[in-house]
Amino acid sequence: MCGIFGYMGPKQAAPILVEGLRRLEYRGYDSSGIALKNGDFSIYKKTGKVVELQSILPEKLHGNVGIAHTRWATHGGVTDPNAHPHLSENGKVVIVHNGIIENSRTLRNLLKKKGVVFNSETDSEVISHILEYELNRDNSPTDALRRTLSKLVGTWGLCAIFLDHDVMLCARNGSPLIIGQGDGETFVSSDPHALSTHTQRVVFMDDGDIATLTTDQITMSNIHGDSFDTDITVLEEEWEEAELGEFEHYMLKEIYEQPDSLRQCINGRLDRVRGNGRLGGLNLTPLELSKLPHVRLLGCGTAYHAAEIGGLLIESLARVPSVAHIASEFRTNEPVVNPNALHFAISQSGETADTLSALKEIQLKGGSVHGVVNVVGSSIARQCGKGVYIHSGPEQAVASTKAFSNMVAALTIFSIQVARSRSLSKEKGKEIINGLQQIPHLIEEYLANQGPIMEAVDLVKDAKSVLFLGRGISAPVAKEGALKLMEVAYIPCLAYPAGEMKHGPIALLEEGSPVIFIVPNDHVKEKSRSAIHECRARGAKIILIHEQGDDISDEGDINIAIPKVNNYLSPMLTVLPLQLISYHAALALGCDVDRPRNLAKSVTVE
Ligand code: F6R
Repeated sequence: MCGIFGYMGPKQAAPILVEGLRRLEYRGYDSSGIALKNGDFSIYKKTGKVVELQSILPEKLHGNVGIAHTRWATHGGVTDPNAHPHLSENGKVVIVHNGIIENSRTLRNLLKKKGVVFNSETDSEVISHILEYELNRDNSPTDALRRTLSKLVGTWGLCAIFLDHDVMLCARNGSPLIIGQGDGETFVSSDPHALSTHTQRVVFMDDGDIATLTTDQITMSNIHGDSFDTDITVLEEEWEEAELGEFEHYMLKEIYEQPDSLRQCINGRLDRVRGNGRLGGLNLTPLELSKLPHVRLLGCGTAYHAAEIGGLLIESLARVPSVAHIASEFRTNEPVVNPNALHFAISQSGETADTLSALKEIQLKGGSVHGVVNVVGSSIARQCGKGVYIHSGPEQAVASTKAFSNMVAALTIFSIQVARSRSLSKEKGKEIINGLQQIPHLIEEYLANQGPIMEAVDLVKDAKSVLFLGRGISAPVAKEGALKLMEVAYIPCLAYPAGEMKHGPIALLEEGSPVIFIVPNDHVKEKSRSAIHECRARGAKIILIHEQGDDISDEGDINIAIPKVNNYLSPMLTVLPLQLISYHAALALGCDVDRPRNLAKSVTVE
């Protein structure tokens, strides 16, 4: 979603800012812009990709201080004037803003009455005008910002520079901002990933924080005027920019990275001797684990599907009631929170606003929340303060693939850990732990021999709609397959637990309708076989994902075999053909696989 990058120091800012924007590109956006201070402000904005912005920048663009932004439209269409940065009326203040100003309409009307002329339809522009107004009332820039923020309702990650003052100001409320401290230079970014080539020394801003920056000083305060010490964190993990290498797209590269990223996730976390998991960040004693009344898992999109799988595993292995919740629904549904229960907030980016608000609601009601997060130091990881990192490495395609598998792996280890503290035997624990250890190898085996993926692509690519069906642990996998195909190839997809098919979706079936069945060799296989026959009888064409050598393997019109796998672990294998079908269908339809339309990698608005 929206991204911010800022620089002040001895170097020319323009190339640093453009490179920063390029590194933020994977988050998804529709326009970008840059402002440089060079005696005056030079501002350039352009709809489209960062290369479009680059194409309108003059060859020599001077200035050692600047701010830049990638926008994902919320208020006002995708146009050049609506792109950030936004300049104040007298041209002395320029701002970039992530988030939503909920009372912008009222503020805009008040400002208009004072004669202010607006140049955009955005909610953000009010900030530059109010900041200028407060500055004109003899306030210091930081005091002017404080007074401005006190008038705003909503969320912000905000960065401002001033023509007459050598400071850059930042403020955070609900939208991430990280400050990077270099040698005589200061950086600002909404994503630590974009800072890592410049410095490892960073300050993660918290909600309510204001930062006053010079080239060599970071001064922290809050909206009430209290100052506090600057807490510098040294980033442990350098997120080198992932190069495409031999791959044409990040999505395919990340599908192929799954064996290695899974190894990163499970290494050191499997106790093969005791048949147990070893997730350090959970900090729960066996006694606490044994007393859990229930578990709730929250996430959105792909993370929610991983949460559903985690919930099923915890319930069936550990015999603790477990439910997955769509985070965007949770907070507004007036949930009852049991402080003794365990909650998980699951998120690749760690910045999803819906998940963040749900977890804050749980904490407000006395509940405790563990994060299952990929991005180290992200808002969700920090708000939880405990949990596990899934260690997928940077996921740059908008469609999530390797993070899904690692979320499932981390939740599987957790399920075993709770199960072992309750009734699961050492032998059974060992069986699953050994199975998990084998998964990266089985994924490699499947990727080397993928089966008739292109035949499946031919069947789905021109379909009116595609139905995905699975039972038990394969029902969330069906949902994940449908989400993936829909988001990258824009094909309407439906996913249902296979048993529900006859209660409604069967009405969609006609001669040739594609139905994708996910049927590993588990206890619900025979029930799925009946559902296949019911679809077949209505003329549907079946794409069947099954285990190698299984007796169901010729029930489909197109049969895709995955290696034999432990029943509890099948999602990490069955999801692979679905990811590949989505990727190749998107390519066949000429879609922008890594940057599907309208989507953003990190959804920072509710
Ligand atoms: C699907 C996808 C989205 C995300 C969802 C949550 O491919 O990427 O559905 O899974 O927006 O994002 P995170 O995991 O960052 O909270």
